[in-house]
Amino acid sequence: MQLIHTIAELREALTQYRHPAVVPTMGNLHAGHLALVRQAKPLGDVTISTIFVNRLQFAPHEDFDTYPRTLEADCAQLEAAGCDIVFAPKEAELYPQPQTFKMHPPTELADILEGHFRPGFFIGVCTVVMKLLACTQARTALFGKKDYQQLMVIRNMVKQFALPVDVVGGETQRNEAGLALSSRNGYLSPTQREEALLLSQTLKKIVVALQAGTTDLSTLESQGMNALRGAGWLPDYVAIRRQADLQVPREGDAMVVLAAARLGTTRLIDNMEV
Ligand code: PAJ
Repeated sequence: MQLIHTIAELREALTQYRHPAVVPTMGNLHAGHLALVRQAKPLGDVTISTIFVNRLQFAPHEDFDTYPRTLEADCAQLEAAGCDIVFAPKEAELYPQPQTFKMHPPTELADILEGHFRPGFFIGVCTVVMKLLACTQARTALFGKKDYQQLMVIRNMVKQFALPVDVVGGETQRNEAGLALSSRNGYLSPTQREEALLLSQTLKKIVVALQAGTTDLSTLESQGMNALRGAGWLPDYVAIRRQADLQVPREGDAMVVLAAARLGTTRLIDNMEV
């Protein structure tokens, strides 16, 4: 496995390949990231993972400075998962001057849910993903369903800009108890890790109710919010949306239940398709 820090070296390394399959990450890798890398393996002739903590997608009050940076351990895990190239640029390499050209995703998709509570988040994500796809010459790019809205926004960007990239989604990886794996789980105390199960349990309950034919979506949403609040969480949203575009579902639409909530100072997100 090659560890590459500059765009020029990456270009050089890529001349011998035709079909890079790329897994963009911010590092501090866990089994969710590694599942994407394994899924990527047969989809290209070279498997690339990028590691870059992207300042553009963090608001000033968010955890950019404290976000865990564990390059050495990440590389060991990536090598074991069969990754061929790790592209880990420094900030000065990817943003040598202020990134004044930015990708602005459509408001109806990017200013709801996560985008509502994290204004500008998807501008930062789309801008860096656009740049990472260009650097890696990705023909296939993989993103986790754990970040359901992110996957949808990126699919949309790739389609509208006719980028020569197949966007592939990966299933959400969870621990045995059901907690969705996340780099931010590392912020949780042992007690909080137990308490954190309530997020996936709340989603699961709503999924079961929907499958049983419950049609009062707003009651289900507020019951979910109340369950979290009752246990001391600060929920941003519990929302039942349609899978196609994350708008409010109409009868017969395939649905997904999404939630974001703060447990102590840690903000967690999760979702489940119905
Ligand atoms: P990061 O949070 O590091 O996640 C990298 C990729 O791993 C994303 O596609 C994310 O959806 C996926 N992922 C995270 N946890 C997962 C889990 N439990 N199961 C399956 N997939 C999971 O998402 C980002 O980084 C950034 O926004 C990025 C796209 C790299 C742009 O900076």
